[in-house]
Amino acid sequence: MATFLSDLSPADMQLRLRDALGVYVDAMRYPRGTENQRASMWLEHTRRHGWQAVAAFEVNTPDSETATDAILTGAEARVDPSAAQLRAAPMLGVAYGYPGAPGQWWQQQVIVGLQRNGFPAHAIDRLMRSYFELTELHIHPRAQGRGIGEALARRLLAHRTEEYVLLSTPETNGEANRAWRLYRRLGFTDILRSYYFAGDPRPFAILGRALPL
Ligand SMILES: CC(C)(COP(=O)(O)OP(=O)(O)OC[C@H]1O[C@@H](n2cnc3c(N)ncnc32)[C@H](O)[C@@H]1OP(=O)(O)O)[C@@H](O)C(=O)NCCC(=O)NCCS
Repeated sequence: MATFLSDLSPADMQLRLRDALGVYVDAMRYPRGTENQRASMWLEHTRRHGWQAVAAFEVNTPDSETATDAILTGAEARVDPSAAQLRAAPMLGVAYGYPGAPGQWWQQQVIVGLQRNGFPAHAIDRLMRSYFELTELHIHPRAQGRGIGEALARRLLAHRTEEYVLLSTPETNGEANRAWRLYRRLGFTDILRSYYFAGDPRPFAILGRALPL
């Protein structure tokens, strides 16, 4: 068994939506049933301009020399799994995002936060003008801590042409979790801290960095 990274088209995401949402709910330790609330939003996101997604799959490799913990991309694998194999393979992780645009709820929320924190209008315009929102990044608990999250993030951001990448992540005491360690390792810095999105009682951090990664 090895981990194979693959881009997902909107049709692929539609096909594997249940699995992707299952990874998300298990990774975030949300209650079962959260998938149903999120499904239509994830599908709507696939229709946004510039949407891009990648996933990690567990695949049997015919190459017996491949280490069981190897993370393979198409370029490295000697034999790519077939499309049919990938369609059936267990999904271990998923990541997606899209360019920020006026009218998006997340962008509106971030702008309010920036204004409340005294960011001057020109600085807000500069940041909002061209960014990729890293909307979701999740690895199933049984596959965490093997570098798959970093590999997915790097693959997703590798060819983006926006000036910045922005994301939001729940605040956690002392930044002591894997998500925070990953984002810091990738060079994300603070844009806003302890920000409350409308309708969510949890404080979030908005982090960002310039692209390319
Ligand atoms: C945050 C998350 C996406 C990170 O993905 P991940 O695959 O678990 O972690 P990374 O890719 O950062 O892997 C790094 C870890 O793997 C270890 N590792 C093992 N082999 C590795 C390799 N070949 N390359 C890189 N790291 C490797 C590192 O030592 C590191 O361990 P540490 O975090 O204990 O220091 C994932 O843990 C997750 O889904 N968490 C829950 C949901 C969540 O918080 N999502 C983000 C919300 S905004």
